[in-house]
Amino acid sequence: MSTHSSTVLLVFFVCLFVLCVCDFQVSKSVKEKVSLPCGYNFSIEELEILRIYWQKDNEMVLSFISGEREVWPKYKNRTLLDITDNFRLMILPLFLSDRGLYTCVVQKKEKGSYVLKHLTSVALFVRADFLVPNIIQLEEPSADIKRIMCLTSGGFPKPRLTWLEDGKELSGINTTISQDPETELYTVSSKLDFNMTHNHSIVCHIAYGDSQVSKNFTWEKPPEAPPDRNHFVTIIIISTLVVLSAIFIAHRCFTRRKKASRRGNNGIYLGPAEASTGQNV
Ligand SMILES: *[C@@H]1O[C@H](CO)[C@@H](O)[C@H](O)[C@H]1NC(C)=O
Ligand SMILES: *[C@@H]1O[C@H](CO)[C@@H](O)[C@H](O)[C@H]1NC(C)=O
Ligand SMILES: *[C@@H]1O[C@H](CO)[C@@H](O)[C@H](O)[C@H]1NC(C)=O
Ligand SMILES: *[C@@H]1O[C@H](CO)[C@@H](O)[C@H](O)[C@H]1NC(C)=O
Ligand SMILES: *[C@@H]1O[C@H](CO)[C@@H](O)[C@H](O)[C@H]1NC(C)=O
Ligand SMILES: *[C@@H]1O[C@H](CO)[C@@H](O)[C@H](O)[C@H]1NC(C)=O
Repeated sequence: MSTHSSTVLLVFFVCLFVLCVCDFQVSKSVKEKVSLPCGYNFSIEELEILRIYWQKDNEMVLSFISGEREVWPKYKNRTLLDITDNFRLMILPLFLSDRGLYTCVVQKKEKGSYVLKHLTSVALFVRADFLVPNIIQLEEPSADIKRIMCLTSGGFPKPRLTWLEDGKELSGINTTISQDPETELYTVSSKLDFNMTHNHSIVCHIAYGDSQVSKNFTWEKPPEAPPDRNHFVTIIIISTLVVLSAIFIAHRCFTRRKKASRRGNNGIYLGPAEASTGQNV
């Protein structure tokens, strides 16, 4: 694709975003409370001649007609219409299926018929938070190579998993994303191989919607055992050699001195005569 067409495409998407058909955008997590503004200013006298409709993607959520409130089954017991705040709609707790485009329609009776007075749309994005990923160590595929796996689940919308080291992206193996058809929640996993002969500080990062979750994994190169043993053996050999040479040298010196002293003794041998002479003095 040429740079030109990419630019055109980018401009198109930017426009699409800016010219969003909604007036507001709200992003929330499952089980949280959301508050969607309608923003229609009214006077107390008007209340009797107003019809308020909150709809989602063309299905009914709630209506407020001539002071009578009605809530549709999917929203029973978890919706509130805050009349004092210009018909703000509150939903608690949020379900994943609540995501969509909400519209507040205000009609007013004028000269016998209802006319549209106000329209507000709010895009609601609901996300489910992924658990903090688990990193497990798998069987080593070959000598020097370590294999780990990053796994997390229970999230929405569709995640993107990346492995990072020093801010650089590493390529994972068999990165898989699956979705539970019932709950719509995603599970994601990926494997990574790395060389065990270096230290590593690896991050498994998962981005979804406008949220993210990550887990660090550090690998410390194990102390080198074989060179240590060699070192020990060398020390023993050198010590043995030193001791042996010392014994040998000592032995040589001793035998020499023995001979020398024997010779010396001969030279200064006084003889029994002299000794006896001394004794006689
Ligand atoms: C509603 O009233 C508020 C305060 O009086 C004002 O600021 C706002 O512009 C009004 N909104 C509409 C839609 O008339
Ligand atoms: C709403 O609550 C009432 C009373 O607590 C209960 O009878 C009803 O079944 C609930 N409706 C729904 C849709 O959960
Ligand atoms: C990746 O997936 C393929 C096909 O399912 C499988 O043959 C291969 O063993 C997997 N690789 C790893 C590292 O799990
Ligand atoms: C691991 O790193 C060491 C040191 O850089 C290198 O000698 C070795 O070939 C590497 N092993 C693999 C399987 O890449
Ligand atoms: C995880 O690693 C990243 C990058 O190395 C670092 O910025 C972050 O503080 C680490 N987080 C934890 C909890 O250690
Ligand atoms: C690897 O990490 C350990 C522990 O933090 C450290 O003692 C060692 O010096 C590191 N090795 C290298 C080559 O950075």
